[in-house]
Amino acid sequence: MLESVLDDLVLSDAEFRKISDLVYQHCGINLHNGKKELVRARLAKRLRTLHIRCFEDYIDYALQDPGEFTNLIDSLSTNLTSFFREVQHFDYLKDVFYPKMLAKKKQQSHFRIRAWSAGCSSGEEPYSIAISLLDAVGGLGRWDVKVLATDISTRVLQTARLGIYEKDRIEPLTPAQKQRYLVRAKREGQWYEVAGTIREVIIFAQLNLMGEWPVRGPLDFIFCRNVMIYFDKPTQERLVNRYFDLLDSGGLLFTGHSESLTGIHHRFEYVRPTIYAKP
Ligand SMILES: C[S@@+](CC[C@H](N)C(=O)[O-])C[C@H]1O[C@@H](n2cnc3c(N)ncnc32)[C@H](O)[C@@H]1O
Repeated sequence: MLESVLDDLVLSDAEFRKISDLVYQHCGINLHNGKKELVRARLAKRLRTLHIRCFEDYIDYALQDPGEFTNLIDSLSTNLTSFFREVQHFDYLKDVFYPKMLAKKKQQSHFRIRAWSAGCSSGEEPYSIAISLLDAVGGLGRWDVKVLATDISTRVLQTARLGIYEKDRIEPLTPAQKQRYLVRAKREGQWYEVAGTIREVIIFAQLNLMGEWPVRGPLDFIFCRNVMIYFDKPTQERLVNRYFDLLDSGGLLFTGHSESLTGIHHRFEYVRPTIYAKP
């Protein structure tokens, strides 16, 4: 009964504006008018779970309860990701960037490598970065490798920390990578768990890109892919310039396939589509 009432729930323009302002102020996500139905449908599920009958009451509730505010943000963010997504980035790292970076670091006897997956979702991206790095250095040995993996959503971070994925999701890994970096999970069905060698190089943390960053540079490269697409241009510009300041010279910024830096004031050099270097 309640379910059918909620399916007919009306989200007024004023309520939609209130929600989109709150979301924008908190995490920079820009919910334009075209997103109204999506917002209604996704939040209707929260109302159903909480037995709340209208959006006005739900907004009041979320404003008073920080846990529910997190759920609201979680419900409205998109977490789509996969292992070795946009594989040309990993090819560029393997074929061009790592050989140069490793040679330079060896020459300087400086064995520290730092990467950041900013907006890491459920973990596939930072695990892919860690796998590509461990493949490149051929085992940690004297190398001090860390991949910082952050997201605003505590829900996706839980999945990321767990590091257990179904067989279909790990298909992009080569047979050698599967053998080296995955173990069968103790779960019914075809589930695989990320091995300790990979886990030990990743640091997961909750971080709102709009807030303070307790991140110590310089970093060798940053992945901020398919995150900025939800932000407006001024927010993207601030973010990109903060990334610039954190990178080592020669360091790289990777953006998502539809996120070019065109129309943004920045100091990066263009390398190839969605890859930018700090001179
Ligand atoms: C579509 S996923 C992208 C995942 C991965 N980078 C990839 O390209 O496959 C976008 C992620 O950005 C996160 N996100 C959105 N706004 C954020 C913010 N202000 N601070 C940190 N993470 C944010 C979302 O929670 C979501 O997990």
